[in-house]
Amino acid sequence: MSQRVIKEILSQEEIAPKHFKMVIDAPEIVEGAKPGQFLHLKWVDNIGGDPLLRRPISINDMDKDSGELSIIYRVLGRGTELLSRLSKGDKVDIMGPIGKGFSIPKEARKVVVVGGGMGIAPLYPIVKELLNKDREITLFLGGADEGQLLNLKDYEEMDLELKTSTVDGSHGYKGFVTDLLEEALDGADYIYTCGPEGMMEVVQEKAKKLGVKGEASLEERMGCGTGACLSCVCKIKVGTKDDWEYKKTCTQGPIFPVEEVIFNG
Ligand SMILES: Cc1cc2nc3c(=O)[nH]c(=O)nc-3n(C[C@H](O)[C@H](O)[C@H](O)COP(=O)(O)OP(=O)(O)OC[C@H]3O[C@@H](n4cnc5c(N)ncnc54)[C@H](O)[C@@H]3O)c2cc1C
Ligand code: FES
Repeated sequence: MSQRVIKEILSQEEIAPKHFKMVIDAPEIVEGAKPGQFLHLKWVDNIGGDPLLRRPISINDMDKDSGELSIIYRVLGRGTELLSRLSKGDKVDIMGPIGKGFSIPKEARKVVVVGGGMGIAPLYPIVKELLNKDREITLFLGGADEGQLLNLKDYEEMDLELKTSTVDGSHGYKGFVTDLLEEALDGADYIYTCGPEGMMEVVQEKAKKLGVKGEASLEERMGCGTGACLSCVCKIKVGTKDDWEYKKTCTQGPIFPVEEVIFNG
């Protein structure tokens, strides 16, 4: 169940230019958290007096024994810039865990996971969980350069097939991660994806072509994070071919069946 807590930062480091990893001591949140869920957080000492709104950031890792969790985020605007100024001992005001997590259907024995850019961060907990459940994983990571392949070192130590791509060619295939997908999807049972909408749309198209179902984690802009303001709605197909309805990414997502999302809708 989601709750609001004020928690101490155990560490914060810049792991790549403009990319930060923050570790927080939050056993109450870790206890009930599932892969794919996120936190809605803000700093306690309102540095500079703004902004007031919380920012949604996915849980990147959690340890049920120690009660620690980590987030990885990219500095984009004012909110994340202010977060990046915090350090060990500072406090953050957290609502969480929020949203529906990923599911692991029984039939998902051979899975493909596709993460692009910041979308790689929310996928780490589900990859760990899939491995715990002995699923066979082919993991695709794509980014502008090697620094954007988040959790790369952790993934390299895991028992999975890892394929990387970078736009500048600094790691793996030079180009887009989606260029590599089709072969792996042929014969896969399920797919998980998170990343830029354009990337997930191509993933959806390729998965549909091969009849592979799965789940996508969406990152719509958010206001309240509690289902009240409607600022986070996305279009999701329902029933027959052309029917769709708005769903709230915060409380009804951020995970949706990949084949049902209407991207850029
Ligand atoms: C469920 C969920 C999980 C997320 N998990 C992560 C995560 O793990 N790591 C991470 O770095 N980010 C994540 N995000 C995105 C993150 O919330 C935004 O980057 C952040 O809110 C930007 O705040 P800001 O004040 O720094 O930028 P703002 O000043 O609000 O915006 C700066 C620029 O970024 C653009 N922008 C802002 N939010 C988004 C967004 N959600 N998607 C695309 N563009 C955006 C704006 O249009 C603007 O151009 C997640 C978002 C959601 C909804
Ligand atoms: S963020 Fe307000 S309804 Fe989702």
